[in-house]
Amino acid sequence: MKNTKFYVCEKCGNILTSTENAEFVCCGENLLPLVAKEADEAHKLNVEKSEDDFYITFSHSMTKEHYISFISYIRFDKVLTVKLYPEQSGELRFPQMRGGKMYYYCNAHGLFELKIVR
Ligand SMILES: [Fe+2]
Repeated sequence: MKNTKFYVCEKCGNILTSTENAEFVCCGENLLPLVAKEADEAHKLNVEKSEDDFYITFSHSMTKEHYISFISYIRFDKVLTVKLYPEQSGELRFPQMRGGKMYYYCNAHGLFELKIVR
C-alpha cells in the first residue's frame, strides 16, 4: 500500500484514499491528492515502543478550529487509520511493526509524513 494517496474534503472532513490514480468529488468539489510534508516542530509526532505497540504522542493543538484529524500507519500490505477528534488528547497506539510510514493530517496545515525506521 506504499503508493497510497490521501484526499480530504475541506468542507465535510471526508477522508478518501486510493492506490492508483483516481478522481474524487465531495461536497461538489474535486479533491486533489495531498502532498505530504516533513514535520516541523509544531507537527512533530513522538513514537515510542511500548510492549507490542507504538505509543504515539504529539503536542499539536486539538481545538475545533485546528487539530490533527487522522493518523495512518502505512506499510506495503496495510493501511491502519485512526480518526481523531477535537478536544481529544494527543496520544494513540498502533500495533508495532517494522518499517513503513505514518501519515497525519492537520486541518489547517495539511498532510505530514514520518518514516518508521524500526
Ligand atoms: Fe497544524
